[in-house]
Parts: sequence; C-alpha cells; structure tokens
Amino acid sequence: MIQVNTSNMAAFVPENYLAAHETALGQAQTWLQEASGAGSDFTGWVHLPQDYDKEEFARIKAAAKKIQEQSTALVVVGIGGSYLGARGVIEALCSPNYNQKKKTTPNIYFAGNTLSADALNEVVELIGDQDFSINVISKSGTTTEPAISFRFFKELCEKKYGKEGARERIYATTDRARGVLKSLADAEGYETFVVPDDVGGRYSVLTAVGLLPIAACGVDIDALMAGAASMMETCAKPGADNPAWQYAAARSALYQAGKKVEILAAYEPSFRFMAEWWKQLYGESEGKEGKGLFPASCEFTADLHSMGQYIQQGERLMFETVVRFEKPLTAMAVPYDDGDGDGLNFLAGKDLSFVNEQAMDGTLLAHVEGGVPNLVVKVEQNTARCMGALIYFFEYACGLSGYVLGVNPFDQPGVESYKKNMFALLGKPGYEDMREALLAKLGR
Ligand code: PA5
Repeated sequence: MIQVNTSNMAAFVPENYLAAHETALGQAQTWLQEASGAGSDFTGWVHLPQDYDKEEFARIKAAAKKIQEQSTALVVVGIGGSYLGARGVIEALCSPNYNQKKKTTPNIYFAGNTLSADALNEVVELIGDQDFSINVISKSGTTTEPAISFRFFKELCEKKYGKEGARERIYATTDRARGVLKSLADAEGYETFVVPDDVGGRYSVLTAVGLLPIAACGVDIDALMAGAASMMETCAKPGADNPAWQYAAARSALYQAGKKVEILAAYEPSFRFMAEWWKQLYGESEGKEGKGLFPASCEFTADLHSMGQYIQQGERLMFETVVRFEKPLTAMAVPYDDGDGDGLNFLAGKDLSFVNEQAMDGTLLAHVEGGVPNLVVKVEQNTARCMGALIYFFEYACGLSGYVLGVNPFDQPGVESYKKNMFALLGKPGYEDMREALLAKLGR
C-alpha cells in the first residue's frame, strides 16, 4: 500500500547511506518494538492497530451513529494532537468541502484550536440553529484553548437542550482516570472515551481521539485500522525492505548532508491537513536539543505558483517528500473544443490525472536538478485503508527518526514555555512571581 522511492535523493548523500544507518535503525527498531528506549512510556501506539480496546471501539461506532441520528452538526473541541489527526483524515477522505456537500452525516466544526474570538464566534454563527453534539478532546484536560471553548459550547448546548439533553450530546475524550475534564465528565454524566496513558497526543489519531469524529463523518474506521494493522506488520520487520527504515535513513542522511528543511508536498488539495498533522508529528518529535529537520508543507500544483520559485532557486536548504496517490478515485477528461482558442486540444480526451502526473514528474526533475532532493511516498489510493497505513507508516518512521537523531521522540518539553508565560500573564493563581518578572520585561 505504501512504497518509498529514494532514487531521486541518492545523488545528494553517500552511496552507502542506508547501510551506514543500519545499526542505529536496528537499535531504534528494538526500542520501539520492546518499549525500551527514551520515552518508552509513550510507545503504546506501536502495537495499537492490533491491541486496541475492542469494547471501546464498538462504543465509538455506536456514539458516532447516535451523533448522526441526533445532530446535523458536530463540534470537535481540541488542539494539537487532539485535533489535527481527525481533521487531516476527515479532509483527506471526506473533502475539505465536506460541510458543503449533500450528505446524511453531520457537518463538522473544529473549535478550541485557537484563542481567536472571531474564529469562535464564526463557529457559533455557522452552527446557527442546527442540532449539534460536542466531542471535547483533551488528554490532560487542562489545555487552555479547548478548555475555554468547551466552557462556551457546553453553555450553548445546555441553554438549547437543558442539562439532561446536553448530557446526551456531549462526549469527552480524555485520560482514563485523571484530570479536570475526566472529573467534569464524570460529574456531568457525559459518555467518555480514553486517550491511553501510553499514547502521546501526536500519536493518538488511531485512538478515540481521532476515531470518534472520523467515524461520525461516515469514514469506515474498520478499514482505517485494518490499513494501520497491515502497515504495523510491515514495519515490525527490521531491514532495508522496511519502508519506514528507508524513509528514516533517507531523512537522516539528508539532514547530515546539510538539508535542514523537509517539505511535505502532495498534489491533492484534500491532503492539506494531513500535512498539518505530519508537521506536528515530526516537529514535536524531533525539534529539540538544538536539532531536527524543520517540517514544512506545500500543496502542489497551487504552491508551485508561489513557493515554487524559492524551492527551485532559493537557499539550498531543503528536500521534498512527495506523497503521491497512485490511482485517482475519480476521472475527468479534458474536453475537446472546436475553436481551440486556448490551444489545449492536444490534451483533449486525456484524463486530468494524466496531466497531474506529468506535473509531478516535471516538477520532480526540475527540483532535483535545482538541488532539491526528492523522496516519493507512493500511496495506492486515497482510501480509509491506505490512510490508516500511511498514518502508521509516518508514525513509525518518526519514532525511528527521533531515535536515530538521538532525541526522545515522545516528549515535548518546549511546548510548556509559552504556556507558563501565558498563565502568568493571565494571572493564574500560583504564577504570581513569574507574572511580575514578565510584566517588567514587557515594560508594563
Ligand atoms: O502532541 C501533544 O502532546 C500536544 O500537541 C497535545 O496534543 C496538545 O497540546 C493538546 O493537549 P491535550 O490533549 O492535553 O489538550
């Protein structure tokens, strides 16, 4: 389902780069498989596609069905790892224009991923008088953005349906036992789903975190998990045939060769939020201790008309990883035009996917010649099964990559700094001393 083509990066790295990485990859493989490396408490996702809680999985499907029956809108409240995976999969498989489509499943609105009042007000405006349900997602239960948003939507829901009615429409995905969201959900009687202790936010899309909103949008989550399980078997085998090894070794070799930026590019606009998910996965896993590739993303061919100039001729600091779907889901032939005023009749009858493929190949050749190595991740088709496989592939390669780089791929100590400053500036109890120091720095 997933193949990695490294032939267009090979000229930029030593010939034996894969063999040179085998020892480090072998060690990383053992650490992941045996949960024995740094951050091993957070490697529950490694065997998750087979070892998931089947009882909860059935409850997720039942809850998704209930949401579909009760509501024409679902508000998903969460940020970071509690947001991007669900949005990525839903946009990829159901379309970024999903809400505008005719369908029997509910519209979906994401909230709690910003502190913008305008954005929050807009979600309220878009919901309008639709019947809605809420899925609040927070592993810690204390993250400011979703906590504020949830307070808001909870109030809205209770005003519309009463406390009893709201209880039937609010679903909380959080820690099994700890945290204020868990306590609140228990006190209010909401149905709860679990973010497993041993799965960090950015590796959690295949838990209830991603699965409930994804299932509510009508995606076949059995197929998603089956694809991930199949890729899990592939990745469990050590060696040069393992696509995650190929990707991790190539990234590491390119980094050592001086490339500091990895651009994830796709030629499907619906992939935009999967790229956002990927950026969080790799950015939070590798960007620490003054190290790590900077993960960026582009949407081709649109960005060839903007970022394309820089990629072709700007600083030579990046390489591209192109996600390429092999078989399009739909066909559309270029029409024949009698007048041929635009001179495009030479393409008449050709499928648009053929044109897109030539754009991909032409771009690849141009960028490689311009000094931008290209890795291609081939995905059979944009289906739930392949998406599950792709998610697992990227997660596994990320775990390997972090270990090969020499960092703990499962912590995110840097994320705390802004939070502490923000709490202090907001006047949160316990942060008084820090507040004074920060106000002085800001000259207030
Ligand atoms: O990957 C991570 O750990 C983070 O991005 C978190 O997912 C994010 O900060 C949200 O955290 P929480 O789910 O605790 O609200």
